Amino acid sequence: MKRTHHCNELRAEHAGQTVTLTGWVHSKRDLGGVLFIDLRDREGRTQTVFDPADLAPAVFESATKLHSESVIEITGKVRVRPTGTDNAKIATGQIEVLVKELTILNHSEVLPFPVDDPEVANKVNEELRLQYRYLDLRRPEMIRNLRLRSKVAIATRSYMDEQGFLEVETPTLFKSTPEGAREFLVPNRRDPGTFYALPQSPQQFKQILMVSGVERYFQLARCYRDEDLRADRQPEFTQVDIEMSFIDREDIYALIEGLLKKVWKTALNVDIPTPFKRISFEEALNRWGIDKPDTRFGMELVDFTEEFKGSKFGVFGNCVANGGVVKAINARGLAGATQGQIETMTETAKGFGAKGLAYIKVEKGEWKSPIVKFFSDAEKAALTAKLEIQEGDLILFAADQWLNACEILGKIRLYCAEVLKAQGKLTIDPTRFDFLWVVEFPLLGFDREMNRWYSSHHPFTAPVADDIPLLKTDPKKVRGQHYDIVVNGVELGGGSIRIHQPDVQKTIFEELLQIPPEETKLRFGYMLEAFKYGAPPHGGIALGFDRLCAILCGTTSIRDVIAFPKTAKGVCLMTDSPSQVTGRQLRDLHLEVKAAVKKEG
Ligand code: AMO
Ligand code: AMP
Repeated sequence: MKRTHHCNELRAEHAGQTVTLTGWVHSKRDLGGVLFIDLRDREGRTQTVFDPADLAPAVFESATKLHSESVIEITGKVRVRPTGTDNAKIATGQIEVLVKELTILNHSEVLPFPVDDPEVANKVNEELRLQYRYLDLRRPEMIRNLRLRSKVAIATRSYMDEQGFLEVETPTLFKSTPEGAREFLVPNRRDPGTFYALPQSPQQFKQILMVSGVERYFQLARCYRDEDLRADRQPEFTQVDIEMSFIDREDIYALIEGLLKKVWKTALNVDIPTPFKRISFEEALNRWGIDKPDTRFGMELVDFTEEFKGSKFGVFGNCVANGGVVKAINARGLAGATQGQIETMTETAKGFGAKGLAYIKVEKGEWKSPIVKFFSDAEKAALTAKLEIQEGDLILFAADQWLNACEILGKIRLYCAEVLKAQGKLTIDPTRFDFLWVVEFPLLGFDREMNRWYSSHHPFTAPVADDIPLLKTDPKKVRGQHYDIVVNGVELGGGSIRIHQPDVQKTIFEELLQIPPEETKLRFGYMLEAFKYGAPPHGGIALGFDRLCAILCGTTSIRDVIAFPKTAKGVCLMTDSPSQVTGRQLRDLHLEVKAAVKKEG
């Protein structure tokens, strides 16, 4: 017999039909000699009934011995459940299947952790889940995530196709171009001492495809970065990578807004309003202290630089005199913050090089703080008015150079929000999605240690046309044609209009990034060469596909939307990779491992 239905399909109207189902033993209950087995497949669950009165004794006997997660096939008759025994929680809760035949397709040993109870499974240590990922993926929540990811990939491909894009695959054995994150290298057996590198993104190939005249390219591209891993970073991840010719920033905004609209509709049946808000990098830092602001709650940064000019409180007064700024946030309801919490926040400030973190607790009608005694009445009045200070507030200050002060409070704002959320004082609607474009990033930052400029995005990003003359005179002021798409405080993607003139690109590489000409030639020579032969103006973007899926699934960890992710240490616990290789393999590759113990072979 072949399966006739999936385990989510049978309803009261199927009563009387003989059906065949296959799947895993989800759970088993023995009620007064009658055995109830919930059978589960990818689609859902059906209750099956093994009644000894209706079955050959040997069949009943083997059913009683089944462990959870054994694989079976049953044939039986659908019947409506007796009144009062239906189960509204599952789609097939009105019926059950009275089993006539049972085939055991495979036994399962006792599981290392249960997969039938979401409450229990969610508490299982993640390392154990990753070691037995195939069991973890049987959980309905994980299947749901995989299904959603697949749907989003298909919706993305169909949208890009409708918009006239070609999906082009680019190599993953690429060339080492050290810039940005550390790369994974692949030794080349044929030429000792030479290496491929796994691409951090298809950036250079997609730009070359524009020179090739492809005009509209996209790819669900695998990227590799050997960087410190976190909940939202994996060493290999997927991008929706896009590049277009003869366009400007507006075209990219419209394209991505359309894509996300379609994706949200397909995945969640939610209509997201477009166009998205746009804010400049400067405004994002001024108001939220970060270039990927979570705008679903307030606690915005307030500037007090003017008010504390010449202040008697030296920390603030001197800071302003030295060209710095004074900013504050009001963490409403957090006056009861513990010493430990204040210390955590102070450490954050110190991590940015600040000497400390001034604060005021507003409790019992009083401002409790060692620094308030230095404040003038006018300063106090300004704080009260602009921060709308009231009982129970915690005011936190940063006095520093502009970027540092913003970033300190930006971090502290997010920390306070977490504490307030845990205390039930801040709730964020889980169905809310705050999309925004962050634009007008500075093209370059200055690395004091290396005494040279670095690209804020990457070296191929075009300056805003009006700012090109500033490249030679005041690089700090040059704005890049770079944009990031942010949702709920997550950087979903980023891109830029590119430089397509080889001379401007050369200036960036050699004069600003100070890459010696020979090295530029070695690393990017083929690109500069390609650009000599009719490079069209072009630009693009890449969305983090794993992050996109995580947001849609309502999880903060991209590991939950990747079938076989790696741990924070970059390890695959299921296959136990990375692993050692044999001496012979190393010899073939002309490699020698110095420190670790070699395996012979
Ligand atoms: P960028 O480096 O900003 O741009 O990457 C684009 C997006 O990719 C996602 N992302 C990651 N996701 C998971 N794990 C990681 N380790 C990881 N690193 C990045 C983020 C990010 O916004 N070539 C350019 C794009 C362009 O200019 O067109 C690029 O790669 O969501
Ligand atoms: P001090 O005069 O160094 O004892 O500092 C007085 C108060 O100001 C202490 O509460 C410090 O934590 C705080 N403080 C010091 N530096 C800064 C700064 N850069 N921004 C905000 N507060 C600070």
